[in-house]
Amino acid sequence: MATPFHLAWFTSFTPPAWRSPWGGATDREWMSGDYYVSMVRQLERAGFDFIMFEDSTMVAEAMGGTMEADLKHSLHSPKLDPFPLLPLLARETEHIGLIATGSTSFYPPFILARVMATMDHLTGGRIGWNIVTSSEDIAAQNYGMERLPPHDERYDRAEEFVEIVTALWDSWEPGAVVADRETGRYADHTKVHPIHYVGKYHRSRGPLNMPAGPQGHPVLCQAGGSPKGRDFAAKHADAIVATNPRIDRMKEYRADIRERAARHGRDPDDIKVLFHLGPVLGETEQEARELHHRVFGMEDPLQIEQTLAMISAVTEIDFGALDLDAPMPQDLRTNGHQSILDDFMRRNKGRTLRESLPERAQLGPQVVGTVESVADQMEAIVAEVGGDGFLIRAETGLTHTRRYIDAICSGLAPELRRRGLIRDGYRHRLFRDNLRDF
Ligand SMILES: Cc1cc2nc3c(=O)[nH]c(=O)nc-3n(C[C@H](O)[C@H](O)[C@H](O)COP(=O)(O)O)c2cc1C
Repeated sequence: MATPFHLAWFTSFTPPAWRSPWGGATDREWMSGDYYVSMVRQLERAGFDFIMFEDSTMVAEAMGGTMEADLKHSLHSPKLDPFPLLPLLARETEHIGLIATGSTSFYPPFILARVMATMDHLTGGRIGWNIVTSSEDIAAQNYGMERLPPHDERYDRAEEFVEIVTALWDSWEPGAVVADRETGRYADHTKVHPIHYVGKYHRSRGPLNMPAGPQGHPVLCQAGGSPKGRDFAAKHADAIVATNPRIDRMKEYRADIRERAARHGRDPDDIKVLFHLGPVLGETEQEARELHHRVFGMEDPLQIEQTLAMISAVTEIDFGALDLDAPMPQDLRTNGHQSILDDFMRRNKGRTLRESLPERAQLGPQVVGTVESVADQMEAIVAEVGGDGFLIRAETGLTHTRRYIDAICSGLAPELRRRGLIRDGYRHRLFRDNLRDF
């Protein structure tokens, strides 16, 4: 019997593929959350471990110095806050894990600790926090900063942030709530402790003004790419989400994370490294290839513009001002996602920017075919990489439709389950316990 792997779904609280012929009324309806409710029910039925909402808080202007492209393609905006959505999703499901993103550069640690603990209660222990340090100055300006601190310092701040937040979650001992009718005492003050944290960047007195949720600490998720980021993720995360189109690099990444985790005294098996994948499915191989070409072929000028705007926003470099048909520059610098930018430049050395765009658009290995052949390819990737599973992602403006979700949940996932490659149920009540089941 094959060892099962984990499946998670990556998304944003943004408009799905509203221009697609399968977009239906989702162009406005998505804001009610109903689209995500039906999505998460399908994902649970299919056996997904969790859904993860990425997040950012800006209207990007990196392309051409204007908001035009970002708003035209609904890239970073509009985007609703996923935190209030998660308890709604929990009400409509029973087992699936629910992860939202919170920035250590923008949240005060006390508020983050409190909202996460509250959501862990509201969801019966199914909450996770995707820890990001953020990468865009234009977002930082929404919080009164002129610019973000330099990349590595952001991780030093994040380190303190996580120390505070976990100390706050631990500030109520188990059993602090006694609710004793005889003595009339609700909580035992001897079991609730201030934390008096004084760091270089953050301070907090504590205690938290509420007991932690059923999980104690919500599931921690991270996506470090740089050496500093990888180390942070290996030290703290239960789940790591990563992007790599090359299988040898996926293998190297996972091995590196596991080695770093062991150096931090952790059991590497307690960390699940999930890689981005956007499978393209057809009823025949040819139909799948044609669909892949339509989605990633970059023949549509709107698609080119959208991809340029996306890269511009995450790097804060105006890719729209570069010559599409000149060789890919090799000397671009950013205070944003430098590791993503370095990778993009290196992989496309000698190609033109136009030739590089299809690869940028897909973010993972190309997995194209029928349900059976895509399942074969996923099985082979996990065997080569060594584990632990995939973060499935629909293309925001292209394939993010109910139809695509159904292809994954009613076609691909049942095939994987038939082969014993994904879970066939949830044995535990808490998110982290299910994640550690295999
Ligand atoms: C799958 C995935 C999801 C991510 N989600 C977010 C997000 O929601 N918000 C954000 O600001 N950054 C997000 N990032 C960026 C990472 O947090 C991280 O900054 C990036 O992978 C570069 O690594 P580094 O910070 O070590 O340089 C994501 C990255 C990946 C691969």
